[in-house]
Amino acid sequence: LFLIQNPDVQERCHEETVQVLGYDRLPSMDDRDRLPYTLATVHEIQPCGNITPVGLVHETIQPTKLHGYDLPQGTVVMANYTAIFSNKEHWKHPDTFNPENFLDENGCFSKPESFVPFSLGPRSCLGESLARTELLLFITSLIQRINFSSPPDAKPIDMDGIVGIVRYPQTFSIICGSRDTKK
Ligand code: HEM
Repeated sequence: LFLIQNPDVQERCHEETVQVLGYDRLPSMDDRDRLPYTLATVHEIQPCGNITPVGLVHETIQPTKLHGYDLPQGTVVMANYTAIFSNKEHWKHPDTFNPENFLDENGCFSKPESFVPFSLGPRSCLGESLARTELLLFITSLIQRINFSSPPDAKPIDMDGIVGIVRYPQTFSIICGSRDTKK
């Protein structure tokens, strides 16, 4: 959805991917360093997609002091990822979809400290490394071969989505056009 909403970003990722991989070779994790803009785009999708807006429920196991607040033992604690991902002090472009959030002044990939979609600490996401690998490989191989767009008569995409334990999109229509120049 973010690629459909930002066709210029989609096009730039496609060009970079095809320059590095061509049309025939699928991406591997070793290609990461040669795909800085695509890598930045895949990362930008995570805080914008914000699929776990408040994380899981935790509880303090001992009396704890946090930012001047006294939390007694047994206090329920949840991380507010929506606040972290929209904090104007921590992101170059907090209110827009912009892969520049993950690029330094030389166009090299650079990850801000506030990029914590898998949480932090001993109870952070167990699937983080699998999820990060799959996100890069899936999205890059799709961008390489397919152009995503909305049908001309489609209603505007609702980017707020549906929020439950996870945040997911409303039903939407999509056109997937083949990029393969041989077909
Ligand atoms: C983009 C994909 C994913 C995101 C954004 C994500 C995010 C998260 C977050 C925010 C938590 C809560 C951590 C906390 O409250 O401190 C979590 C926990 C967890 N995730 Fe994921 N996750 C993803 C994919 C996966 C996958 C693919 C797996 C398994 C293969 C997985 C397994 C788990 C498990 C087992 C926990 C509980 C860890 C614990 O309580 O010790 N996740 N995840």
